[in-house]
Amino acid sequence: MKAIKVKEDFYWVGAIDWNVRNFHGYSTFRGTTYNAYLLVDEKIVLFDTVKHGFEEELLSRVKSVIEPEKIDYLVINHIEPDHAGGFVKIVEVIKPEKIFLTKNARLGILAHFHKENYPFEEVKTGTTVKVGKRTLTFIETPMIHWPDSMITYIPEERILVSQDAFGAHYASSGRFDDEVDLCELIQETRKYYANIIYPYSPQVNKLLKTVKEMNLQIEMICPDHGVIWRKNPEKVLSLYERWSSYVCDPRVLIIYDTMWKSTEKLAYAIMDGVLEEGVEVKLCKLSVTDWTELMADVLESRGLILGSPTLNNGLLPTVSGFLTYMKGFRPRGKVGAAFGSYGWSGESVKILNQYLQEIQAEIVHEGLKVKYVPDEKVLLEGRELGKAAAKKVKELCSG
Ligand code: FEO
Repeated sequence: MKAIKVKEDFYWVGAIDWNVRNFHGYSTFRGTTYNAYLLVDEKIVLFDTVKHGFEEELLSRVKSVIEPEKIDYLVINHIEPDHAGGFVKIVEVIKPEKIFLTKNARLGILAHFHKENYPFEEVKTGTTVKVGKRTLTFIETPMIHWPDSMITYIPEERILVSQDAFGAHYASSGRFDDEVDLCELIQETRKYYANIIYPYSPQVNKLLKTVKEMNLQIEMICPDHGVIWRKNPEKVLSLYERWSSYVCDPRVLIIYDTMWKSTEKLAYAIMDGVLEEGVEVKLCKLSVTDWTELMADVLESRGLILGSPTLNNGLLPTVSGFLTYMKGFRPRGKVGAAFGSYGWSGESVKILNQYLQEIQAEIVHEGLKVKYVPDEKVLLEGRELGKAAAKKVKELCSG
């Protein structure tokens, strides 16, 4: 397998995982890549390694340019096992003179691999290393999305090697944004942000400010997953600006599940109310909906209306499972309401409202409960709930 030339002396030498469909619970319907990059200057630099099992693919791509033993420096931008799983094997082959990484990355690498005697060299934001004609400039990005994370900027080439940031789980034969379907790429980039980066939106906002303050001229963004943003780096920068600022579309998601279809009848009535206000709506029944895909919709939808019948004094497991997953991403700026049917105890709406409070949603209705089966009067209330949510969504999205 061969390296792909990105620019003069700069190559992609990563691996393509065409067949992965479950990445620690994240549905990767289009596979993924573990990107690594090689800079050939007076010093030869490898940026990141790959997931364990893909080391030979990386080494064979490196060999198409130089012998791996000639690599002088290894830069570890991020230590998660999809990038550092091959760390020990690669280090044992290339025997680098120096391994550049943050303090947290060194501590993390030691906790993973227990290799005290490797030639680690800690770097901080602003540390620069001259490697010949080019310079490596390191910028720490803690919690985007692990404590160890950093990015590396090469000013002479205007290249940002960005680890997970700006990436996507997207396997393709094209290595650049102009060689793949842009709609597909944006879809996967959104899904990646929603399921990996979303909780750290404040840190992303800070990083984007740092990029502006440091006046970084960015011609290409080279992330650790998916393709290289060569034609349109400003596109992904503007998407990250939008998502990290919690900008949403005027859309309502009705996220629910149902046991004997009473809660579902309410869901449809609520949907009618939203539509009466001329607002886009999506019904998301959790027993048939992929959580990872749904999070991409949650990211950009202003309204979240949650529904569940009461089961054993709680929620249906499909609903409680998804809400636990969603809450961890700390969505903000949402309009919310809750609904559900019950037989005798009827706790579900109260619990759903607690989830909405935890994500600091603006709750527009006290919650709609119905014993057993909704009649026309209750369905009318459901439509009113939908209208109230839609009106608030329109108000917030037009402001
Ligand atoms: Fe792609 Fe956080 O590892």
